[in-house]
Amino acid sequence: MNVYDGQKMADLLKPHGYSITESAEDADVAILNTCHIREKAEHKVFSDLGRLQVVKKDRLSAEINRDMLIAVGGCVGQAEGAEITRQAPYVDMVFGPQSYHRLPEMLAQLEHKVKGKRRKIVNTDFPVESKFDFLPTPDETPVSAFLSIQEGCDKFCHFCVVPYTRGAEYSRPALKIIQEAKHLVSIGAKEITLLGQNVNGYHGEGINGREWSLGRLLYDLAEIDGLKRIRYTTSHPLDMHDELYDAHRDIKQLMPFLHLPVQSGSDKILNAMNRKHNVDEYLKIIEKLRTARKDIAFSSDFIVGYPSETDLDHKDTIALIEKVGFAQAYSFKYSPRPGTPASALLTQIPEDVKAQRLAEVQYSLNTLQLAFNESMVGQTMEVLFDRQGKFPKQIIGKTEYMQSVTLDGDCSLFGNLLKVRINNGHGNSLSGEYI
Ligand code: 5AD
Ligand code: SF4
Repeated sequence: MNVYDGQKMADLLKPHGYSITESAEDADVAILNTCHIREKAEHKVFSDLGRLQVVKKDRLSAEINRDMLIAVGGCVGQAEGAEITRQAPYVDMVFGPQSYHRLPEMLAQLEHKVKGKRRKIVNTDFPVESKFDFLPTPDETPVSAFLSIQEGCDKFCHFCVVPYTRGAEYSRPALKIIQEAKHLVSIGAKEITLLGQNVNGYHGEGINGREWSLGRLLYDLAEIDGLKRIRYTTSHPLDMHDELYDAHRDIKQLMPFLHLPVQSGSDKILNAMNRKHNVDEYLKIIEKLRTARKDIAFSSDFIVGYPSETDLDHKDTIALIEKVGFAQAYSFKYSPRPGTPASALLTQIPEDVKAQRLAEVQYSLNTLQLAFNESMVGQTMEVLFDRQGKFPKQIIGKTEYMQSVTLDGDCSLFGNLLKVRINNGHGNSLSGEYI
């Protein structure tokens, strides 16, 4: 979603004469679009800011003698607000993920000097208007485009900052989404990934005036001519619904790959996390999806070392990983986040235990991922090529399961679904030959 937001910020500023620079040194405005999900991401913001401060100084002392405005957007901006300008006084502007549609206006305000000094802007409002109504229609798109359909979260998992930084759940009206999807396809998108923090909890106004589920919406999106692939992320197990299982059964453009975070394989920890479902319920969802679409594969998120997690709980997580046989997954050490209930618990797990458990979870996940990738060898897969490889005349694309495939070729092949015979399966990618 941050990638989507970043593209939208660029789209918003384009009519005001701004364009993207290749390096920070060339920028009159530097915008950090930040993530607050774990402490590591937040630390990165402050080290990036330190680097930008040096660039700002260098620009002022160099021949060009031009200032660089520094802005912090995204969830760290939302969570920290004016504290950022106190810790980093060279920051000119702070804003959150729900107010970036006002960027042109905020930048114009910054240009006005007050008594020779720039006024600072801190905008962490959750405005009454929806930012989506103010985002411009893009004139360019990647082959594989993002489309935000839902934002925010009302679930309040005890470890997570998202409900505080992105705000309450909001679903865009279906008509707006379908119009945006059609436009993206008309300017070259072949694949669309629908985005939302709880994307399968989508409940926007339908074209018939009734509330639509994500499943319902997918049926209409599948009617768009030229849209070859549809994905959605990220989902919550509680929000799986019958129309969505049906969509997986009926819609061939809906890719057979689903990211469905489970976080832990222990009922005790799931309960402590306030996930509102248990392991058995998760497994039943997986079964239903496999019944709907037998070639579906799964990805997930795992948190290790959540407060009070025992060795036994951890073993239950490994057991769940093996039982489902995830094709891929992300795993993290639990990171206490200010203001969340879990951060105040006295049963925090020592760092070295978290590190050991993370290594074990990752070993298990990597082994499964390699086996999944190796199981593709000898198969012919459809690959959507969309980016340049490391070397000239090398291109990279994605299979239905989001595996990267590298091939000799050039950018004239971008946007095509090509049949590739897979010769090798590696840890993170596949290689093969174009048929
Ligand atoms: N510590 C570690 N991981 C976290 N996530 C969210 N909050 C935290 C936290 N405090 C992970 C979850 C979520 C993913 C986006 O980030 O696994 O699904
Ligand atoms: Fe965070 Fe997802 Fe839980 Fe919402 S459902 S609180 S976004 S982990």
